[in-house]
Amino acid sequence: MNQQPQKVKNNPPSAEEIERRRKAKQNEVLPEGMSRREWKKIQKQQKWEETKDQYREVMRAKKKLQRDRKRDRIKNDDEYKNSILKKPKTQIATDVKFIIDCEFDDLMNIKEITSMSRQIQTSYSIMRHSPYKLPIQITSFNKRLQERFETSLQEYKNWQGIEFTSTNLEELITEENKDQFVYLTADTDDDLMELTSDHTYIIGGIVDKNRHKRLCYDKAKKLGLKCGRLPIGKYIKLYSRDVLVTSHVYEICCKWFEFKDWGDAFNKVLPPRKVASNGDVSESKESESKVGESKEHEIKENKIAP
Ligand SMILES: C[S@@+](CC[C@H](N)C(=O)[O-])C[C@H]1O[C@@H](n2cnc3c(N)ncnc32)[C@H](O)[C@@H]1O
Repeated sequence: MNQQPQKVKNNPPSAEEIERRRKAKQNEVLPEGMSRREWKKIQKQQKWEETKDQYREVMRAKKKLQRDRKRDRIKNDDEYKNSILKKPKTQIATDVKFIIDCEFDDLMNIKEITSMSRQIQTSYSIMRHSPYKLPIQITSFNKRLQERFETSLQEYKNWQGIEFTSTNLEELITEENKDQFVYLTADTDDDLMELTSDHTYIIGGIVDKNRHKRLCYDKAKKLGLKCGRLPIGKYIKLYSRDVLVTSHVYEICCKWFEFKDWGDAFNKVLPPRKVASNGDVSESKESESKVGESKEHEIKENKIAP
């Protein structure tokens, strides 16, 4: 049995402790010329200095526990083992490419940027594990998302089959080649029935909890591109709106190549709690699921081998 690491956080304070803290705060004398805000900041920093070793120890134990659990699962669950460990030696050519359009950097907050970077990691892992060759190009990679990779995920430079470029869509698309591009968006009525060779499918690289409605649809129309929607409604019912996160969209497309069936692809990729059984769609929940919820690709930061 794995040993649980000790938690750093204590139990909620007792009534006596709350009273003691209140009195201490009342009697607190701030250093001259210092605001309470500055004083609190210094105290917080001091507390961190005092507890950081303990915190790091707990985090190390937690990570070890996660590793042990993963090792146990790999030992006991063959399907999981295959999905995590088995990379196909050769991939079947498709002539289909994907772009993750990251021109929306300015529309995300820092948490969303981090989330987007994780989705790119997840997509990379999906790409490497797919039996089909479905390369990805990350466009407009030139702002905070790039900074995030440079500071925390530098090994991305060794990743294969994925291209990171500062080039934006406008620079890639010409009058001659624009028929080969399809912008995927939930905001069109054109259901995508299949993924066609010699085509590049563009997925919006944005985490926005759908704050920016029709963002990608409007962009595609401005660029004169065709739009395509995953035919979710024809196969399954979701508890939420049909707007999926970027990595799920890419993974569903990869699974479509394996099954040549959208229904199977949706069921394989989308978490069961998002899929309404018996047509029950009464409950409306957050439209975008959290990053890293992919059933098979549990990606930890900095942990993807090229
Ligand atoms: C989180 S969504 C972004 C939502 C954003 N408000 C927009 O206007 O597209 C990320 C991307 O996944 C793709 N996507 C999400 N749901 C989709 C669906 N049902 N069909 C096709 N593409 C979808 C789109 O390319 C979208 O830009």
